[in-house]
Amino acid sequence: MNDRNGPVVGIVPAAGRGVRLGEPLPKAFVELEGRTMLARSVEAMLASGVVDRVVIVVPPESAGTTATRLVGESFAARVQVVAGGTERADSVRAGLAAAPGARFVLVHDAARALTPAGLFVRVVDALRAGCDAVIPVLPVADTIKSVDDVGIVTGTPDRSRLRAVQTPQGFDVDLLSRANRDAADATDDAGLVERLGEQVTTVAGDPLAFKITTPLDLVLARAVLASGVPAEKEM
Ligand code: CTP
Ligand code: MG
Repeated sequence: MNDRNGPVVGIVPAAGRGVRLGEPLPKAFVELEGRTMLARSVEAMLASGVVDRVVIVVPPESAGTTATRLVGESFAARVQVVAGGTERADSVRAGLAAAPGARFVLVHDAARALTPAGLFVRVVDALRAGCDAVIPVLPVADTIKSVDDVGIVTGTPDRSRLRAVQTPQGFDVDLLSRANRDAADATDDAGLVERLGEQVTTVAGDPLAFKITTPLDLVLARAVLASGVPAEKEM
């Protein structure tokens, strides 16, 4: 598989419960200004122009829902819906199983609902240019400490060497399949690739690709939308 011009398939894990968000619905189905986080994430991916099709991984009880219902008519033809699993790594595995023929995969959390198109482009450009694993990252604003079991500080890593990791994470499809095969859990797909001893390359992330995890994140996402920022970036 040396041809780097092959198809890019997006895998959108959306099968989580959203326990930390605390809404009555699974998180991906929570709406931001009239559209679900899932619909926003998938539409941004397909509208970027660098992703050929998308596999959405939903909670098993939602697997019968049509793509049209989940993302609307204009994008549904390029979307497939499959059932996810207990852990995020299980959901990514289900997505990979539905991506035959992919040359590269872009794994992108449904919960990063405001991700601008340019970030998908940056990740795919790096894959096309020769990287096999690509992650968007941002500098860390807070100082980070490591602690022991009872909360005593054990170290202060040099902040200039730390990065916060976002999605979309892009991979050679065979590499991610190998890395994910025996994974019990992974909040970060690139971590599985690192365990294989393979190189992971970083590209500049985007603050708008933040993960909506807590009620405060939801307030922020709604305020950002009300301010019109993502709408400008989407143009
Ligand atoms: N995810 C998934 N399958 C799982 C767990 C998570 O597809 N078994 C997805 C989520 O839907 C989300 C992304 O992985 O889009 C990132 O996970 P996270 O932000 O932790 O979402 P949840 O697991 O839903 O939230 P929480 O951990 O608060 O329950
Ligand atoms: Mg989770």
